[in-house]
Amino acid sequence: MKTPTPQLLSVSYAHPAQKKAAEAFASEHDLACQPLHKAQSELTLNFTEMQLEIIDLQNNMTLSVDFVGGSLGHRKKFGGGKGQTIAKAIGIKQGKPIPSVLDATAGLGKDSYVFACLGCPVTLVERSPIVAALVKDGIERASLNIEFSDTTKQGFKLHNCDALEYIHAITEDNKPDVIYLDPMYPEKKKSASVKKNMQILQKLLGHDLDTEEVLKVALEKADKRVVVKRPKGAPELQIGRSPTLKYESKGTRYDVYVI
Ligand SMILES: C[S@@+](CC[C@H](N)C(=O)[O-])C[C@H]1O[C@@H](n2cnc3c(N)ncnc32)[C@H](O)[C@@H]1O
Repeated sequence: MKTPTPQLLSVSYAHPAQKKAAEAFASEHDLACQPLHKAQSELTLNFTEMQLEIIDLQNNMTLSVDFVGGSLGHRKKFGGGKGQTIAKAIGIKQGKPIPSVLDATAGLGKDSYVFACLGCPVTLVERSPIVAALVKDGIERASLNIEFSDTTKQGFKLHNCDALEYIHAITEDNKPDVIYLDPMYPEKKKSASVKKNMQILQKLLGHDLDTEEVLKVALEKADKRVVVKRPKGAPELQIGRSPTLKYESKGTRYDVYVI
């Protein structure tokens, strides 16, 4: 994970009413803070009255987490359900108990929310404090919505820490059924198919280099399976064993390691 430099990331606020919160976050994470119109960095974590957002000032793109509207709300209404490839990958099957999922690379929480929509209790682990702050803000706003609260009633708890640390601490009594990994994958070039969310995350985080290590530990701690999301055509992670099963959907492959 990249450490954000002052050139890459600063903290800003849209209105003086958010100045205190923005300054507190900036000082905790050793980042510069200024009103939005004075921001000079490539990205800025911007506090507004409505939401916390990352603005890509070079490309004029904004990223925030919305569990109720946007693409996630749309997917829940029209594209969710047990027939999704991701549902099969985590082992959801008619007549079988719904698994608990530890999403150890939670990112913006999109896949986590899909698991919650499928009825799974979900634990989210995200190591970047910036990304975790966006998700925390998304959860807080969505919690005012009855449908979100109902969807996540089995559990939807976010931890801002490293997956290795979190997974190491799992004991026999609190093993999740499934550990899910979706690490940042290095893109060869800036392509139009890379969604704007991912473009901003790639700038902020770079790519993840420790996933093989996380996978090895996850295999010791998951009760039923570990699922790794990869771009279609990407090599398997090199851990000395191959996945038990592979599921493919448009552009994506899920490598499933059954315990
Ligand atoms: C591709 S994004 C995940 C996207 C996510 N599946 C979603 O649906 O929004 C990968 C995320 O995993 C996080 N991550 C990678 N390795 C991690 C680790 N060892 N511990 C915690 N978080 C990690 C990165 O910081 C990044 O936010």
